[in-house]
Parts: sequence; structure tokens; C-alpha cells
Amino acid sequence: MESRQAQRKNEHLSLARKYYDQAHASHPFDQVRLVHTALPEMAVTDVDLKVPLAGQLQLSAPFYLEAMTGGSQTALTINRQLARLAAKHRLAMATGSVSIALKDPTARASFTVIREENPDGIVIANLSSGASLADARAAVELLDADALELHLNAAQELVMPEGDRRFFWLDNLRELAAALTVPVIVKEVGFGMNKTDVAKLAQAGVQAINVSGRGGTNFALIENRRNHGEDFSSLAQWGQTTPEALLEARAAKTGRPIIASGGISSPLDVIKAGALGASSCGVAGYFLNILQTAGPKALDQEIANWLAVLPRLLALQGVSRFADLPVMAAPVFAPELYSYAQQRHL
Ligand code: FNR
Repeated sequence: MESRQAQRKNEHLSLARKYYDQAHASHPFDQVRLVHTALPEMAVTDVDLKVPLAGQLQLSAPFYLEAMTGGSQTALTINRQLARLAAKHRLAMATGSVSIALKDPTARASFTVIREENPDGIVIANLSSGASLADARAAVELLDADALELHLNAAQELVMPEGDRRFFWLDNLRELAAALTVPVIVKEVGFGMNKTDVAKLAQAGVQAINVSGRGGTNFALIENRRNHGEDFSSLAQWGQTTPEALLEARAAKTGRPIIASGGISSPLDVIKAGALGASSCGVAGYFLNILQTAGPKALDQEIANWLAVLPRLLALQGVSRFADLPVMAAPVFAPELYSYAQQRHL
């Protein structure tokens, strides 16, 4: 019998699958259109897919496997499959929150498998933004991690019956970012951020910010299903979509890498996120769903496809470097996103 915390991790995996279609019923990146050029004036071989992640870290492609799981037997199997694909395709991979492994040594193998399967790749550990410095150091050490993600998840916690009810994170983030030797990335978990949040995080000294907006995995739906006391179904549409959150982040003008996650489900979404100012993209639910419904071979093919398609889409925009997308491929917005940008003065 697995611990309650491990059972919770398994419920996240099964509920992410159960609610996949409902959470992905609308796709906010449809609100963003790129303008075609008939004259790219470049070759696909001119494209360099490398992008900065955080600090000095560089990714070989502008997307990576975003934080998902760890802590149970099912999580161990999934992390092994994901880490093998990360190693094969030279993609960075973030773990699910390591906190369970710091409390329970039997949960460690489901995380360390990621480093074992991918000894030379970029591995990103993950903890809550309230983590102590000792826990942050222990999480990095456990995985020999190259960076640490710290998540902000107030909406998720509030829907959880056993969740936190006090949210004071900024001072702790400042302390962790200053004290750790690896870069710190602060991320939401699918509700997005606003301009002021992004500015505050940059001022606190975090090296990169992942806006993780609405449009993909929806923790209001997932945790509401786990909550048998109260009903939070009214929060199903809560938060900024990923395109909205990217516009908020762009307006904050931090100069730090801005990472997009939340509903990224095609190479075109990656390009659109880049056009909105993202320096890279994290993909969680879309890849997990393929793994859970069609298996590792199907995910292998999907990732290979993204890597083949991305340089061609960049060339189609006449862009040789991902970072040039915001200048070269200024997007056109559908009325809803346009109205959001106007009303928020973004
Ligand atoms: C997550 N996510 C997540 N994030 C985090 O910072 N720590 C975590 O432990 C988890 N756990 C987790 C479990 C499962 C099953 C999923 C699908 C996701 C959130 C994830 O990293 C991301 O921010 C959101 O899921 C939005 O991206 P997608 O899923 O729409 O691509």
C-alpha cells in the first residue's frame, strides 16, 4: 500500500488523463495568428534551434518536458519513460515536486531514475516556492539538478482540502535565488501570472520565469474532483491563458528568460509562444496524455516530429533564431485576446 502522498500523485496522473479533453476543449493559442511571408529569404539549414533556459543553461531545442510527477510506482515508470526520451532527443526535463522524496526515502527512486536514465542531460528539480533552503539544496543534490523550479500554486492549494491557506512566497524566493548555486526558475502551474507578479519575481532575483497559463492541464478541475467537501467548479476558467500571461510578462520588460507553459500542444504553439516573447516552452499534459494513452513509442515519434517541424516553421517565418520571432513574426490577435491586451494596457 502506497502512502497518502503517493496516492495523491497517482490521482493527479489519472485525473490529468480523465480531464484532458475537457481542459483542452478550447485552445487559447487559436487567438494568435502569425502572418505568412511569401519571401522567407533563408534556408532551413540556417536555423539554429538553441535557446537560453536560465542562467548560463542552454537548451538544444525551444521546448522541454515540464514538471509532472514522482513519488509513486506509477510515477517511477512514467519518469523512466520520459527520461529515456529526454536523453534520446537531448531535451531538458523537469521533475514533479521532489518534496515527497525529501520526507520519504522510499519515494526517491522515482526521481533518481530521471538522472540515471539521462546522466548528461539537463534535469530540473521542482519544489514549492515555500521550500526551505535546506530542502532546496537537498532536492538539487538528489538529482544532481542543473536548475531548480519553484512553483506558485495558490489556486491549486485553495481547492485542495488538505492544501495550504497562507501564501507568503516572495521573501523566500529572494533568499533561495541568492543562496543557491543553480539557477532558480519560478513557475505557475496553469493559472498564469500578471505583469506585476512577473516584475516582482524579477526584482526578487529569480533567473527565469515560467508564466504557466490556462489552456492545458487544469488543476482547478483536478483538485476539485479530489475535494469531496467543497465545490470549486466555478474556478474551471480561472486565470490568465498562456498567451495572455505572455503578454503580461512582455509588458513587465524584465530582460529575463520568460518560459511559456500551459496548453502547448504543437510545434506551431511553440512558435506562437516565441512570437509573444517566450524564450522556451515547457510541455506537460500534452506529452503525458500521449504517453498514457498511446505509449512511449508514440511519444518518441511525436517528439521527433516536433524537432523536424520546428526549424521548417521558423524558416517559413524567415527567422533563423527563436529569439528573433518577436521582431520578425509580430502576431495578429483574435478579438478576445486583443480586447484583453487593450483593457490591460499591454
Ligand atoms: C503537473 N504540474 C506540476 N508543476 C509543478 O511545478 N510541480 C508539480 O509537481 C507538478 N505536477 C504535475 C502533475 C501532473 C500530472 C501534470 C499534468 C502537471 C504542472 C505542469 O508543470 C504545468 O505547469 C501545467 O500542467 C501546465 O502545462 P500543460 O500541462 O498544460 O502543458
